[in-house]
Order: sequence, then structure tokens, then C-alpha cells
Amino acid sequence: MKILTVVGARPQFIKAAAVSRAISQHNQNHPIQTIQEVLVHTGQHYDSNMSKVFFEQMYIPQPNYHLEIGGLSHGAMTGRMLEKIEEVILNEKPDVVLVYGDTNSTIAGALAAVKLHVPVAHVEAGLRSYNTRMPEEVNRVLTDQISRWLFCPTETAVKNLEREGIIDREQALVNNVGDVMYDAALFYQKIAKPSNMIASLIDELRGSFYVATVHRAENTDDPVHLSNIMEALETISKTTPVVLPLHPRTRKLLGSQNIFHIRIIEPVSYFDMITLLFKCKGVFTDSGGLQKEAYFFQKPCITLRNETEWVELVQNGFNTLVKINLDDIIKAEKQINLNKRDYSLQLYGQGNASETIISKLLEG
Ligand code: UD1
Repeated sequence: MKILTVVGARPQFIKAAAVSRAISQHNQNHPIQTIQEVLVHTGQHYDSNMSKVFFEQMYIPQPNYHLEIGGLSHGAMTGRMLEKIEEVILNEKPDVVLVYGDTNSTIAGALAAVKLHVPVAHVEAGLRSYNTRMPEEVNRVLTDQISRWLFCPTETAVKNLEREGIIDREQALVNNVGDVMYDAALFYQKIAKPSNMIASLIDELRGSFYVATVHRAENTDDPVHLSNIMEALETISKTTPVVLPLHPRTRKLLGSQNIFHIRIIEPVSYFDMITLLFKCKGVFTDSGGLQKEAYFFQKPCITLRNETEWVELVQNGFNTLVKINLDDIIKAEKQINLNKRDYSLQLYGQGNASETIISKLLEG
């Protein structure tokens, strides 16, 4: 079997690392029925600390194709990816095209494949925010519509697909396999070593700090939202330092806002993020992945959004959604340590999502 995997953005490298590892393990255990993986990197994320470092640290196979399509508007980026991925599919003739999550690289890969009658496998299928102003929501709804294998990370995701009639669609194979990010967290936490920079920052802060990330268009592209978030994190930082690995999107849009207390650093590697999560008191984020990683590392999370795709975290008290205004964010921080939580719930499977995905693909 030949799988063509399309990745392009940081969270996809983490997910692909888990599945690529399961493919190599399968090949070791089944030398007769091997899987060939052809990896395509669209180039959506191109800075070394947004891309290369993940490939090196997580032992992801080097991409067979690097399309170098990044830094463009949504339409231009998705359109050029579609054209180039089509060429790769025609050249490689894969049995399956495997896509992850909800980025522009996801929809471009899925659309190129389905138009050439190559079946699509979607990892992280069925997630919904029901906010169609988010580019990610559009990407995932459309990708689910054209996928054959829909690998859901949660039971909620399965139900979402059921409501859209996808479960009854001919040729749709819907399964709750668990979350490949949980597989990655379990595996890499055993080998993660922080950089000197992160190790000394943690020493300096004596383990008493929050981690924050901000990159969603709905926050960064609205100057009022962005300045409310920064002002709130500034205020919180005066009592408990906030470490903010800053996405290039946010850095560009931040402009001249005065920041004196937040510890702004460059985007960090997966190992550095794992280490920060281990040591921090809690997390402020608008990232989908980090909401779950906070839970994997048993840290409370305040999500800087009106809604989330990971509703089970909110329903079980692990995550609090907060409106983007100064008072609400500061109030949420004051309440962050009050809730007692039981982390023994296995909300995201048993850590074998990647292996299950491979065996389902082999079943056909
Ligand atoms: C993308 C995904 C989002 C995901 C996020 C993870 C879409 C629609 N969005 O958002 O779902 O959560 O990745 O980080 O696909 N840039 C750089 N260097 C880089 C990468 C980006 O400077 O290595 C700049 C780009 O030039 C652009 C901005 O950051 O101006 C945004 O990048 P883009 O890939 O369009 O979207 P993200 O915000 O990263």
C-alpha cells in the first residue's frame, strides 16, 4: 500500500510524527505487507522553528516533496497547493491520500485527491466549532464531506458527523480511534529534553509561571481582541509570569503595543513545549492542540475563544472558555486554581490511535 501524506503546518507535523512512527513499526513487524509513505510538505509553515525543528526532533521522515507554498492569502495558498499536490498524486499514484486537521494544506490535499478518484483519509475528522468565520471550520467541514476514512478523535466528533449524514453516506468509514496527539504526548514525553534557553528560563521563574499562545485569526486580526489579550496577560504577568512563545502571525500584527512583563520568546520546539507544560501552573491559549496538551499534562487551561471543538474538556471542568475582554480574562485567572479535577478520564483514547488508523487503512 502506498500512502501519500500531506502536511504543512506545525500541528500537522506532530500528528504525522505519531502516524509515521506507526507505519515504520508496522513495516518492521510485517516485512511482506509493507506500507510506503510518501510525504508532501506544502510549505505553509516555513520558518525553521515552525517546521524544520519538528522534523529533526520527532524523527519525522524527510519530505519527499517540498512545495514551498507559504506566506500567501488563503485563496492563493490553497489554489497553488491544489495544483502542485495534483501533480504529485499523478506522479506517485498513491492508494490513499492522508490529511490531518483543518488547515489550508488539509483541504488542498483532500480536494486534489478526490478529484483524481484517490480515496482520502482524514485524521481528526468530525470536529466542529460551528463558527464558519473560522477558516479552519470551513476546511474541516469540506474535508469530511469528501473523505472515505474519517478518523475521529472523540465520540462527540462521531456524533457531529452523524448529524451531517456522513455516517450513512456510501463509502464513508467513520471510526472513533482516539487522538494521535495523545499518542505523540505519551511517546515523546519519555525522551523530551528542553533547550538550554527553556531550561534556564524555567530555573529563573522557579517553576511558577503560565504558558500562553495566541495565533487564531479571530484574535490576531481584530486589534481590539489582540490588545485586550495582551493587556490581560501583562496584568497577570505582574504577579505570575506569563511565557508567550509568539507565532509569527501575532508578532507581525502586534505592532507597537507596549509589553514589559510578558516573557515573549520565539516559537518553541515540541520538546520545549512539553517541558513548559510539565512545569507551568496553567495555560492560556487559542490553539486547539494546546488545549488538549494542557489536559495531557494535567494543567488547567483558559481558552481565549467563544467556543471550542474539544467540548469534553469544558464539560468536565478541565478547560474554561473566556470572552476576549480584560476583566473576563483576569477573572478567569483568579479562579484557575480553585477547581479540583480528576485526570483519570481517558477522553482521547488509549494512546494507540495511530496503530488503529494504520490497521483500518489496511482493511480497506
Ligand atoms: C495555520 C492554520 C491553523 C493552525 C496554525 C498552527 C489555516 C487556515 N490555519 O494558521 O489552523 O492552528 O496554522 O500554527 O491553515 N508565517 C511565518 N512563518 C511561518 C509560518 C507562517 O512568518 O513559518 C506567517 C505567514 O507568512 C502568515 C502568518 O504567519 O502571514 C499566518 O500563517 P498561515 O500559515 O497562513 O496561518 P496560521 O496562522 O499559522
